Amino acid sequence: MAEIEFRRARLSDAAAVFEWRNDSTSRAASVSTGEISWAGHVEWFESALADPLREIYIAVESDSSAVGMCRFDERTDAAEVSINLAPSVRGKGIASVVLRGAIDAYREDHPGTGRLTAVIRPSNTASVRLFERLGFTRLGGDGEFDRYSCDLAESPLRGASPKI
Ligand SMILES: CC(C)(COP(=O)(O)OP(=O)(O)OC[C@H]1O[C@@H](n2cnc3c(N)ncnc32)[C@H](O)[C@@H]1OP(=O)(O)O)[C@@H](O)C(=O)NCCC(=O)NCCS
Repeated sequence: MAEIEFRRARLSDAAAVFEWRNDSTSRAASVSTGEISWAGHVEWFESALADPLREIYIAVESDSSAVGMCRFDERTDAAEVSINLAPSVRGKGIASVVLRGAIDAYREDHPGTGRLTAVIRPSNTASVRLFERLGFTRLGGDGEFDRYSCDLAESPLRGASPKI
C-alpha cells in the first residue's frame, strides 16, 4: 500500500473536500444530511481554516493525491474527531491508517489533548468499527447519534495496520 502522509488543509483543498462531503454516503452519516452548495461550502471551509479551535488534516498518498480528511474540534475537555475518505478509496482498508495518522498529527500539534470523542450514527457500521478498532468506546447515545470516547492517558490508541 502507498505511504500516506498528513498535512494541514489549505484553501486549494476546498474542491476535493466539497466532493467528499456531498457524496451520498457521507451526507447520510452527517448531522446535516442535505446537499451543500459550493458557495456555502467555501464559506464554511474558509472559516474552518481560520478557526483556532478547529484543525483539518488532509491524508495524501505518495503521488500527491488527497485521499481523505480528518477534522478535530477542540472542546473544553476533549477534541471531537470526524473522518471522511474520498469515495474512491472507501472499503479498501485504509481508513484506520488515515484516522490513526491524523490523530498522531493532531496530538503532535496539540500535545495537551487528553481525550478524543466522536459522534457516530449507529447505522454507520464502517465508522463504528473503525473507531472501536482504534480503542474508542461507546459512552451512550440519543437514538440518532452515539457518542464515543478514547482517553489517551488511560488507554493509548491501538495500532492501525492496513488490511492490504
Ligand atoms: C467511515 C469511513 C471513514 C470508513 O472507511 P471505509 O474505508 O469505508 O471502512 P473500512 O472498509 O475500512 O471498514 C471499517 C470496518 O467496518 C467494517 N464494515 C464496513 N462496512 C460494513 C458493513 N456494512 N457491515 C459490517 N461491517 C462493515 C469493515 O469490515 C471494517 O472492519 P474491520 O476493521 O474490523 O475489518 C468511510 O466509509 C467514509 O468516509 N464514510 C463517509 C463519512 C463518514 O461516515 N464518516 C464517519 C463519521 S464520524
